Amino acid sequence: MAEVVYAVADPNPVAAGGADYLDAHGVRTELRPSDAATELTHAWATSAAAGRPYVILKTATTLDGRVAAADGTSRWITGPEARAHAHEVRAAVDAIAVGTGTVAADDPILTARRPDGGLADHQPLRVLVGRREVPDDARLRTEDGGELVHLATHDVAEVLAALAAREVRTLLVEGGPTLATAFLDAGVVDELHAYVAPVLLGAGPGAVGDLGVTTIADALRWRTHDARRLGEDVLLVARTHPSLAHPSVQEA
Ligand SMILES: NC(=O)c1ccc[n+]([C@@H]2O[C@H](COP(=O)([O-])OP(=O)(O)OC[C@H]3O[C@@H](n4cnc5c(N)ncnc54)[C@H](OP(=O)(O)O)[C@@H]3O)[C@@H](O)[C@H]2O)c1
Repeated sequence: MAEVVYAVADPNPVAAGGADYLDAHGVRTELRPSDAATELTHAWATSAAAGRPYVILKTATTLDGRVAAADGTSRWITGPEARAHAHEVRAAVDAIAVGTGTVAADDPILTARRPDGGLADHQPLRVLVGRREVPDDARLRTEDGGELVHLATHDVAEVLAALAAREVRTLLVEGGPTLATAFLDAGVVDELHAYVAPVLLGAGPGAVGDLGVTTIADALRWRTHDARRLGEDVLLVARTHPSLAHPSVQEA
């Protein structure tokens, strides 16, 4: 008898029900869950269930949590290994977003590049959020890369709806602090990529602005999913999950 073993059930209502169909037509099916398969499909499954892109928020900070010096310069806080890793992540997502403030300060290209400087095979959509126009000579306009989408809004839900309509499943929010805060405030960040460099500035903007937290019990808590050393820097990958309270809350 024919048999199909599968590791993850499809959360997408449009595509779900395959096992039932096969069972009804004489093919035995068995769900054999596997951590590797769950991890492989995590972002996609979360996106399908939420009906919006899976959002990864990236920050590159000093040890004292700053993303730029007092004069606005931020290149480079982290070293080449961390930046190469960030380019690998870019090459794996569907879209990257920054606010107009980052374009004004850094004039980024927002491409996924290999260590030799060449463009990676997959280029994510480049998403600019904010009402200001992009200057004609901005490198986002003049340099090759993914399609540029300018969303002249401050409404995070609008951004996500526009990207979902383009079938964006994974979105990497690269900042700056204003955009990062808006996504956190909207409660739509699924994963944090915090690159931390052993650097101190003592002044300059922090990675995120006011989140309305005035007391420690209200802090936004995350779960560490992975931590690794990249040259002199450290990458912390953290995730949130609505059903998981932070250990300090469970112990209390
Ligand atoms: N180290 C890092 O990880 C990192 C990453 C990125 C940037 N940076 C640094 O961050 C600094 C720029 O910070 P930033 O906060 O100005 O950058 P930003 O968040 O990229 O841009 C802010 C602008 O985006 C628009 N915007 C989009 N959504 C918004 C919302 N929901 N609420 C309010 N405004 C919204 C507004 O401009 P409009 O008036 O056009 O609407 C706002 O002024 C630079 O110094 C840059 O070097 C650091």
